[in-house]
Amino acid sequence: MFRLDECLSRIHDASLPDLNDLEQVLSLNGKDELNELFLFADGIRKKFCGDGIVLRGIIEFSNFCLRECFYCGLNKNNRKLERYRMDKDELLKAVGHLVSCKIKTVVLQSGEDTGLDPFWLKDIIREIKSSFDIAVTLAVGERSEFDYKIWKEAGADRYLLKIETSDEGLYSSMHPQMDFKQRLNCLRVLNKIGYQVGSGNIIGLPGQTLKTIAQDIVFFKRNDFDMVGIGPFIPHQDTRFGGQKKADPLLSLKTIALTRIVTKNTHIPATTALGSLDKDYRVDGLKCGANVLMPNFTPQPFRKLYEIYPQKKCIDEPVGACNFCMDDMAKNLGRFIDYSKADSLKQRKVGSNV
Ligand code: 5AD
Ligand code: FES
Repeated sequence: MFRLDECLSRIHDASLPDLNDLEQVLSLNGKDELNELFLFADGIRKKFCGDGIVLRGIIEFSNFCLRECFYCGLNKNNRKLERYRMDKDELLKAVGHLVSCKIKTVVLQSGEDTGLDPFWLKDIIREIKSSFDIAVTLAVGERSEFDYKIWKEAGADRYLLKIETSDEGLYSSMHPQMDFKQRLNCLRVLNKIGYQVGSGNIIGLPGQTLKTIAQDIVFFKRNDFDMVGIGPFIPHQDTRFGGQKKADPLLSLKTIALTRIVTKNTHIPATTALGSLDKDYRVDGLKCGANVLMPNFTPQPFRKLYEIYPQKKCIDEPVGACNFCMDDMAKNLGRFIDYSKADSLKQRKVGSNV
């Protein structure tokens, strides 16, 4: 007979968890079993990360993208989307706002924008690091080692590059002109250069199975990422996957819980996508392993145009509103907002194991 408690202990204790165990837990749907899983994951979160909820303020500074990912509203074939690129003053003003809200990490995110001059971004990083005592995270996709290096030298601390799915075949099926090995290589280079590296996946992609999700979790463990972002798939009408099904929120929560149990001291956000389903599941995410929130500091009119998927959370909120909202969320959970930079909880890695 299947014993969930034994299975969770095995997953917790293993240096690399068994794929069948993970798959079995991902397939559970009973209320009591899910409660048991989520409580277990919440305990691991408390033990390794404490009760602080870490904030990462995000600024989406350009929605130009050269890629054609089948799921993403920013893909270059979406001619309906009005494109923008914020200028230096607009960007620095948004950073100033974020700092005035006591946030200590800025995530500078954009599509894969060929018009992004690496030296322009380098100057911005320099300016942020010399004006403010905050951490800078970059999320601008696959770039050359040279670019990654000059940004690191300018003071960038962290880099987010989701693998989206660790299954090479599935990856290729929805990323035309992209190379899975190239993406792995970027992750390796980022690690080598000394960034704190974040990765992650999308749950509910067409063609994805519980087995591929189990493999993603093993991939996260193998690579010992500092951060892992897990978000549900939300179809966007102006993409190839426009007619596909929305992700099951429970499957996303189960994946968060298992990723916490397996990777232990990783920063795991309750993603904006998780907040953008039929209800706001970020609170549920925070109750089953997540310890990070990512309030949006992209100013209008740009914020509405960063439409990766429709009905994105907080699209009409005034800048800064998210901060109050996050405080409330933490209080309701009996936790608190951690207003520190909250660097990686991992021991600094030497070399790479990607
Ligand atoms: N649904 C959910 N997440 C998506 N992303 C892109 N498109 C979608 C979608 N339709 C995620 C990807 C990307 C991040 C910026 O947004 O994981 O890395
Ligand atoms: Fe933006 Fe709540 S997180 S208003």
